[in-house]
Amino acid sequence: MEFSVKSGNPEKQRSGCVVVGVFESRRLSNAARHLDKASEGFLSGLLRRGDMEGKLGQALLLTNVPNVLCDRVLLIGCGRERDFDERAYRKAVEAMSARLGESGATEAVSYLTDLNVKGRDPIWRVREAALLVGSGLYRFDRLKSKQDNERRPLRRLIFNVPSRRELTPGDAALQAARAIVAGTNLTRDLGNLPPNICTPSYLGEQGLQLAQDYERIETEVLGPKEMEELGMGALLGVARGSREEPRLVVMRYQGGRPDEKPVVLVGKGITFDSGGISIKPAAAMDEMKYDMCGAASVFGTLKAVAELELPINVVGVVPSCENLPDGNALKPGDIVTSMSGQTIEILNTDAEGRLILCDALTYAERFEPAAVIDIATLTGACVIALGHVAHGLLGNHSPLINELLAASRSSGDRAWELPLWDEYGESLSSNFADMANVGGRAAGTITAASFLSRFTKAYQWAHLDIAGTAWKTGDAKGATGRPVPLLTQFLLDRVARANG
Ligand code: BES
Ligand code: MN
Ligand code: ZN
Repeated sequence: MEFSVKSGNPEKQRSGCVVVGVFESRRLSNAARHLDKASEGFLSGLLRRGDMEGKLGQALLLTNVPNVLCDRVLLIGCGRERDFDERAYRKAVEAMSARLGESGATEAVSYLTDLNVKGRDPIWRVREAALLVGSGLYRFDRLKSKQDNERRPLRRLIFNVPSRRELTPGDAALQAARAIVAGTNLTRDLGNLPPNICTPSYLGEQGLQLAQDYERIETEVLGPKEMEELGMGALLGVARGSREEPRLVVMRYQGGRPDEKPVVLVGKGITFDSGGISIKPAAAMDEMKYDMCGAASVFGTLKAVAELELPINVVGVVPSCENLPDGNALKPGDIVTSMSGQTIEILNTDAEGRLILCDALTYAERFEPAAVIDIATLTGACVIALGHVAHGLLGNHSPLINELLAASRSSGDRAWELPLWDEYGESLSSNFADMANVGGRAAGTITAASFLSRFTKAYQWAHLDIAGTAWKTGDAKGATGRPVPLLTQFLLDRVARANG
């Protein structure tokens, strides 16, 4: 889909379709009023007859509207004007996208971007609309023997902005939206791929592919030998139960000065989590193919950053293996030595994410990072705490947390901070090693983060638990591509701040 911005009157547009909003009850938006005037009351006549109430999400497609140059006029219900907030705006845009897709129009001009959304400017509205329409087109059907060839003639979508002043920033917003869509789509593809295809070596190949596609990315893939040399006993411990070799994928994006400290993104890449010897129940176990969504979001964010050619240095580090039961697998009671030298007593082999992450976090020290953010489908407890709405956010440096919260607010990709006080770490004590890999049942998301915090003392660090947000279950089962929008926004904001 091609996106662009322009500024002009709706009745003057020569296009396949012009899209305008109607508020409840039967109140024309500004742009709709323009069309109504040009058509000598055609729209208000329709509304009076009761064809459209203006309820949020309603859509009415009209043809042959008098004195209007467009072939079609699409009215979109926007609900009550004073309730028109971000959520309502998103619903309206989604309704537009669905109805346009079914129409025969190959091009459309949308005036929904002219509607006032509480606390948001026109540029946000353009970007959000492009993101929604762009990611709404995502399908994962490459493994079906027949793709359903949906007819979707719409090729070009033009967003109107209130004045010519918004054209340049509007273009930049579209560029960001395109990059974020490309990044989230990669993240979703990797997440949705089955675990017999998306293995640790497959993720290694993905890293090499990014280096092929983008000049500024260089990739190095480590295997078990190198891990042995580095002393990554925790990562290797988890990998022992699998016939697939583990991988550590290291991707460097160089967009800033060579001496500039990078932001390091570390993503959990368990390509299948059966629980290991502490095996999980069978129900919905297929969804544990999504246990590499943290890793997938690192690939996706690097892709977005490379598409935007951001002037910043970013390193992606992806530790990846399977967690399976086997005669050679880790057992409860085993003690492993991590790369940091700290020893870990394994009390539950299903708490494997923190084991592969702790070695990757120690490895990250070599980049002398400006900040490290790890992203992981780490705890079922996070789903209980925050549901499928917000990522859990924890860390050791409040300015970094606040930056992420700000990026979360502006991108709409929600995150919520949980406390990481020392008291929470006490449950990790072990009689036999420096620490155990699990605390009790209480505050599971926080004790997991507390475990990680013992490996992140050398730098500013934040942790995103995406167990509830990385994928959807049920009929709409599929990867969401989150938190690529949040991470990309965070990096965009860093660049903007560095440039004044
Ligand atoms: N990958 C899971 C966490 C998870 C579970 C994410 C369900 C999304 C949905 C992780 O490896 C895990 O198994 N965590 C355990 C930790 C426990 C053993 C302390 C959990 O959450 O039950
Ligand atoms: Mn697990
Ligand atoms: Zn896991």
